Amino acid sequence: MAGNDSALHTPLGLLAELTHRCPLGCPYCSNPLALDPRQSELDAPTWARVFNEAAGLGVLQVHLSGGEPGARRDLVAITAAAHAAGLYTNLITSAVGITAATLRQLADSGLDHVQISIQDSDPASADRIAGYEGAFARKRALAAEGVSLKIPLTVNAVMHRANIDRLEDMVALALALGASRVEIAHAQYYGWALKNRAALMPTAAQVKRAAAAVEQLRARHHGEIVIDAVIPDYYARLPKPCVGGWGRRSLNVTPGGRVLPCHAAESLPGLEFWSVREHSLADIWANSPAFNAFRGTDWMQEPCRSCARRDIDFGGCRCQAFALTGDARATDPVCYLAPNHHEVAALAAVQEDAPYAYRRM
Ligand code: SF4
Ligand code: FES
Repeated sequence: MAGNDSALHTPLGLLAELTHRCPLGCPYCSNPLALDPRQSELDAPTWARVFNEAAGLGVLQVHLSGGEPGARRDLVAITAAAHAAGLYTNLITSAVGITAATLRQLADSGLDHVQISIQDSDPASADRIAGYEGAFARKRALAAEGVSLKIPLTVNAVMHRANIDRLEDMVALALALGASRVEIAHAQYYGWALKNRAALMPTAAQVKRAAAAVEQLRARHHGEIVIDAVIPDYYARLPKPCVGGWGRRSLNVTPGGRVLPCHAAESLPGLEFWSVREHSLADIWANSPAFNAFRGTDWMQEPCRSCARRDIDFGGCRCQAFALTGDARATDPVCYLAPNHHEVAALAAVQEDAPYAYRRM
């Protein structure tokens, strides 16, 4: 049996959700159902304090995210504060709402990396998925601007039934845009995305073709672009080690200041989240009830409790376990050892060409 790794680890990454506001309406949005309103958003000086506390805690990277971080008028000041705290700064953006002039100011303020989400290689389909006409053209333009400023670019391609057959074209597009990395990220079904699961779910045949395409593309473009991809959850045999293990490697600060162990943690009932308004990040990391809820392995049930992989995948994803079983302590049903693993295949088989429920604030 593996040991109970409940020691306090050092967090490496901070996801700073600067706002929940977003001009796009993506049906796979993983933000919670209840969004933080604009008036409750942390101000720039508070973010600066949080970044300094994060650096003191050992965090190396900050991901400036949302919603759409470009909706914040003080994004440049916030980015400059993250840079001044000594953090590697990555901007995760839809590209809608960030002008070329703002990107130049961000680069001057120390922005290290930009990650642009692209909904599809086909412009009309991309705009339809985003629920925003003209989004694709804005993304192309901002990617070009970033590359001209020599900011390293990652293309974030969220895949699902409507676009997974164009995976090869997505990688070609990422190459054409000058990206050094493309992240093939399958839609995750919690938060808003759960509403659209039947409309987004790829078929087994599509997933098989996509996995083969990834292998070929990696061989063909070795040294040109890094292609990150995993098998989508509902078709996997083993679960992902979600967020690198609960309370182990990362923290997530919501627009209003609550600190979460993962971005979907508020979907779990009964957890008590502490806020940066009342506590230091170090206090929250070490002592807040939510961070300690699923640390180590004592909380686990069988089959995880006595499994040799329990310190490798940490029992999978808590939010997925809850979404699929109603029990946040259950083995992630994606695992082939989980008692209800067969139900995942049954859910994957439910596919409807229903219209998307778009995410609108
Ligand atoms: Fe991972 Fe639990 Fe499955 Fe073992 S039983 S492989 S620890 S999810
Ligand atoms: Fe919450 Fe995986 S998204 S643990």
